[in-house]
Amino acid sequence: MADLADEAAAPPPSAALATEARELRSALNRHSYLYYVEARPEISDAEYDRLFRRLQEIERTAPELRTPDSPTQRVGAEPQDAFRTVAHVVPMLSLDSSQEESALRRFDERLRKALEHPPRYLLEPKLDGASIELVYEGGVLVRAVTRGNGQRGEGVTDNIRTIPSVPLRLRTAERPAPDRLAVRGEVMMTVSAFERFNQRLVERDQEPYASPRNSAAGAIRQLDSRLTAQRELVCFAYDVLLVEGARFHTDAEAFAALGEWGFLRPDRVELVDTVEDIVAYHARARADRDDLDYEIDGVVVKLDDLDARVDLGSTSHHPRWAMAFKFEPRKEITRVERIAISVGRTGILTPVALLLPVQVGGVTISRASLHNREEVARKDVRDGDRVRIQRAGDVIPQVVERIAEPDRERAEPFRMPDTCPACDTPVEEDGPRTVCPNRFGCPAQLKGRLVHFGSRNALDIEGLGEETAALLVERELVRELADLFDLEADQLVDLPGFAEKSATNLVDGIRRRRAVELRRFLFGLGIPEVGVTVARDLALHFRSFEAIRSASMEALESVDGIGPKMSLAIRRFLDAPGNAVAIDHILQRGVEPTPPAAPLDSALSGRRFVFTGGLESLSRSRARKLVEGAGGRVVSSVSAETDFVVAGAEPGSKYDKAVALELNILDEAGFLALLADAGIEVG
Ligand code: IVH
Repeated sequence: MADLADEAAAPPPSAALATEARELRSALNRHSYLYYVEARPEISDAEYDRLFRRLQEIERTAPELRTPDSPTQRVGAEPQDAFRTVAHVVPMLSLDSSQEESALRRFDERLRKALEHPPRYLLEPKLDGASIELVYEGGVLVRAVTRGNGQRGEGVTDNIRTIPSVPLRLRTAERPAPDRLAVRGEVMMTVSAFERFNQRLVERDQEPYASPRNSAAGAIRQLDSRLTAQRELVCFAYDVLLVEGARFHTDAEAFAALGEWGFLRPDRVELVDTVEDIVAYHARARADRDDLDYEIDGVVVKLDDLDARVDLGSTSHHPRWAMAFKFEPRKEITRVERIAISVGRTGILTPVALLLPVQVGGVTISRASLHNREEVARKDVRDGDRVRIQRAGDVIPQVVERIAEPDRERAEPFRMPDTCPACDTPVEEDGPRTVCPNRFGCPAQLKGRLVHFGSRNALDIEGLGEETAALLVERELVRELADLFDLEADQLVDLPGFAEKSATNLVDGIRRRRAVELRRFLFGLGIPEVGVTVARDLALHFRSFEAIRSASMEALESVDGIGPKMSLAIRRFLDAPGNAVAIDHILQRGVEPTPPAAPLDSALSGRRFVFTGGLESLSRSRARKLVEGAGGRVVSSVSAETDFVVAGAEPGSKYDKAVALELNILDEAGFLALLADAGIEVG
């Protein structure tokens, strides 16, 4: 008996204590919202701290009262070994972007042609931070995921909880919490917090961060969330990615709801109807840019009508209903220390200006591409010259022009080397390009191929970055791509930057990728002209690597979007004896590219659908997913090829066209019946 008494759990907390904890959580969350989102605190910092400490004390004595939405969880959790990769609720696409007004006009024209009603646009500043997906279930933050490759990202929930402007629980005073909500936002560091933070790093003799964005991105990927908590991050929410248990028809409605749920949102959001209004907004934002305490790099223009967005759809990279109208890049002047040559994975020699480091819009730049020998000649840049450089977002900085210095004696004009700096093979000229023809023996090309093979959209091998690839080639541990699969952890442990754990992780990571999706494998081979989209289309069409390998040019061209130029490039690559052997070697190591899942064969498969008007029982995006899941396609315009036109409430001109073409027109009930026939229940 005595033993049992000793082991018995502490008595359950009293109901009064549980109530006190709940009230404290709610009060603290409210005051945190008032302070960080609305900037109008109602209590002093000391009073807040007193309430906070009381809640901490309760949770210490009765840990079962600790909940995920407790403000005490914002201080950070125990460090982790690694982040889990998590699939996004909805793919996080990128944005099509341009600095040109003409591109904006083309975008607007395209939308005007495709849509039944003239577009209305929601304008927002383009925030220059790190994008994040926040998922709420039953109103409570359950997950936060980095953008990653757009499909999957890293689960960084503990870190995101430390950001005071992220609601741990949605506010429900004005609007009930939906059952499930996924929100996209941008984690940012304010410029002032960034400067303070960098100052501290410099004082401690550590390398400062290049920009607030890099620092914010670094902070959300800290394994120890207590460090994240110290970086003074903010998070702006701007997009509802998914909502269950509520419906929005416009982005403006969704944006208002985000505010009511307690999110911090970008200011200066406007609804406009014309390109002129967008251009004026852009000019105002650019003029005010330097007065803001956070970095923006343009304006995001989004179609407000959410059903119309679904109609327009997306490419694999960006939605067709939005674009970023960016600011002109910031320019600075510096000096070229010398022009070096870099050799890429395709053997192209690129002249690179090594610069006296200079800050351009908060980022330190020390190299800039000069593209090719003709470009160097045209700009007449030589060692030691003064130059104007520019940086546009993530794009590699460029030398814009040389600045004349009449009184200074200049170096000799630049000449491309006669031999490859990496392998000494005599180089060849191909138009403006200079190429090292030593495809399989040049270490610089092999290094580039390794990095590409392991990159996110290819085999996605964690830990195979530039430096590791360079080491593997330099130490001759890898002489061709296939050698990657033979690596053993004990060959890596002693390399600089490696320890037992990282060596084992890399080797395991590589081995696991022997079962790789066909589209990733194809992309990873680095076939000229084959980007992510073409690789995916080839995989969907041919369904096996052997089928692609033996496809004639004609067969390749039967794939939508592949023309003679591409098919020739693909055949040439696959037929080159060196490539064929290198690929055989990879396959002999047990690499098995897996075909994409076959779409369900149903009455809908291969059928083209067009939607017009609003649906009652399901959103347009859900309808689209159901059709696509059953092998059908949703297209935006009506033609003789359309199989079904689904007309909801208040259909537009597509309906009239469908009548004129005598197409199959379904009302909502008819559409649901068709789905039901295909075994799809809309619950
Ligand atoms: S809307 C499907 N709105 O810009 C894309 N994005 O360059 C919908 N970004 O990765 C995004 N501010 O993270 C949107 N006000 C804003 C934004 C914004 C910044 C980011 C976004 C994206 C990047 C694309």
